[in-house]
Amino acid sequence: MSSVPPPPAGGRRLRVLGIETSCDESGVAVYDSQAGLLGHALHSQVALHSEYGGVVPELASRDHIARVLPLVDTTLAQAGLALSDIDALAYTRGPGLAGALLVGAGVAAALAMAAGKPLLGVHHLEGHLLSPLLSEPGLDFPFVALLVSGGHTMLLQAQALGSYRLLGETVDDAAGEAFDKSAKLLGLGYPGGPELARLAADGDAGAFDLPRPKLHSDDLDFSFAGLKTAVLTKVRALGEQLGARQRADLAAAVQQAITDVLAAKAVAALQRSGLGTLVVAGGVGANLCLRSKLDAACARLGARVHYPALQWCTDNGPMIAYAACRRLQAGLAQPRRDYAFDIRPRWDLGELSAAA
Ligand code: KG4
Ligand code: ZN
Repeated sequence: MSSVPPPPAGGRRLRVLGIETSCDESGVAVYDSQAGLLGHALHSQVALHSEYGGVVPELASRDHIARVLPLVDTTLAQAGLALSDIDALAYTRGPGLAGALLVGAGVAAALAMAAGKPLLGVHHLEGHLLSPLLSEPGLDFPFVALLVSGGHTMLLQAQALGSYRLLGETVDDAAGEAFDKSAKLLGLGYPGGPELARLAADGDAGAFDLPRPKLHSDDLDFSFAGLKTAVLTKVRALGEQLGARQRADLAAAVQQAITDVLAAKAVAALQRSGLGTLVVAGGVGANLCLRSKLDAACARLGARVHYPALQWCTDNGPMIAYAACRRLQAGLAQPRRDYAFDIRPRWDLGELSAAA
């Protein structure tokens, strides 16, 4: 686990076990405020949901039930720790699928009660937002965050831990959703983002002209629903002629359109906020085309850009354990000791007060 260094020293030493079950990944990790990441384990449900072309919530919950405790055992064994060595238990409180969230919350509460340790619910998006700090603990607030996942597309001004001002967000589909829906139209499997990116590598983005909604709008909002409709129209128009070449070209054009808009708006957010640091987080942050555009744009601006390690872009346990650890260390969390737990399937990041 030595690839993940500890954060700057400060506060008392804490070891937090975090559990992530908000969607289709069961993730568990132990984060130590002094030694960094001590252990982590992940089970992806991609194979389980792939035949349905998307996440089936009931199947997701049932699979989390089967996976979480063995993942906890694996993580603790990797860390060389017993449950009694853990200082606090954390789980993803929301947003996410209600049934899936309940599994992580229930298991975390039971473990916390058994061990007599405090229990803390974490905002999934705060986990994503802080995930680049897992590999770069020196990275500090304030920064502009581009949060691009399957369910969210947001630009935030992150002033301090727990203080996130929304600068703009999607008015319809999220960027990940645009990747996934376009991939589906091209006959690709689920989740479509990585598959579309792979296909795009062989394509010519200039072969198709796709819209870049809101590219020049005055606000920092996004809109991707029209792009999906444009892809549908092209696929229908091509009909039988949609061969391997056209599919690769169309995939490249989709990726180009989505990443053009994301990069342009991220640049606009940096300019408007006057901040010199951009942090990218969420599953779409793994997209290499997006990364190269942001690298180039930030170099032109003289701004710094930080990404999570590729393995921490999509949902994972370390980001939850880390976010909980940061909050506890900063005195910004009110962990429960009554072991009542709750979930927030819908939970705006803006509602997240400094003391969650
Ligand atoms: O953050 P995440 O794991 O889950 C949510 O909290 O939503 O993000 C998943 C999303 C999916 O839409 C997936 O297609 C997309 O991230 N994604 C990608 C790539 N890897 C994952 N999209 C484009 N390129 C990628 N390489
Ligand atoms: Zn996520």
